[in-house]
Amino acid sequence: IKAEPLKVMISGAPASGKGTQCELITKKYDLVHIAAGDLLRAEVAAGTENGRRAKECMEKGQLVPDEIVVTMVKERLSQPDSQEKGWLLDGYPRSSSQATALKGFGFEPHIFILLDVPEEILVERVVGRRLDPVTGKIYHLKYSPPETEEIAARLTQRFDDTEEKVKLRLLTHNKNVEAVLSMYEDVTVRVDGSLSKEDVYTKIDTVLRNVLGQRQAAIVLL
Ligand code: AP5
Repeated sequence: IKAEPLKVMISGAPASGKGTQCELITKKYDLVHIAAGDLLRAEVAAGTENGRRAKECMEKGQLVPDEIVVTMVKERLSQPDSQEKGWLLDGYPRSSSQATALKGFGFEPHIFILLDVPEEILVERVVGRRLDPVTGKIYHLKYSPPETEEIAARLTQRFDDTEEKVKLRLLTHNKNVEAVLSMYEDVTVRVDGSLSKEDVYTKIDTVLRNVLGQRQAAIVLL
């Protein structure tokens, strides 16, 4: 019998390192990375009506309304690649209504990873973040500087990556996080996200190997 593909949720405050860890996790585990923020930014870039409404909320650091985000994520999760390879859901669900809707559609994670990072670190991470529009890779001017001059010259910054906006995003996160956690208590693991990105990944990798090991053992017992 083959185990069902791995289903992982990763959550944490703005700039806690979700996207950075997802890059490392997908390299090894080949899961489909679905980031609610990335899906929304693609909608904004495409200039759709949903994108225009989403941008208004994102600029205020507020959650984009469920009527836009719930279907968008559900459709991505339902694609054949997510079903076959398993998924890594980043930044979703962010409210109890999103979690309830997901459960209703039958999407449940094997593990819910919460990155714990003290607030004073988050602002520095946000203002130093840069993105490579060619590869999609996440950099930080101090902690993960670009490898070459060529990459450095083309890096961009997100429109919501200012000190003022990250504080608003943090307020939204703090308001919702407990309600979401309470729905995944039995599968939640807290990981110290203030360590170096390699050390955070080592911890996450151990967690994921344990989950896979347990599921394999359960199949042998069947
Ligand atoms: P989203 O794009 O998800 O933003 P976020 O949650 O604020 O998270 P970030 O992407 O800012 O940070 P991250 O945790 O991925 O950190 P990263 O790895 O880049 O959402 C944006 C907006 O979209 C929301 O405000 C909301 O409006 C809307 N939205 C999204 N999801 C929604 C939902 N479900 N419902 C409704 N609306 C939604 O790292 C940050 C920086 O730190 C980088 O520069 C990185 O190099 C560096 N770094 C990472 N790890 C380390 C480390 N260990 N040590 C040192 N530096 C590190």
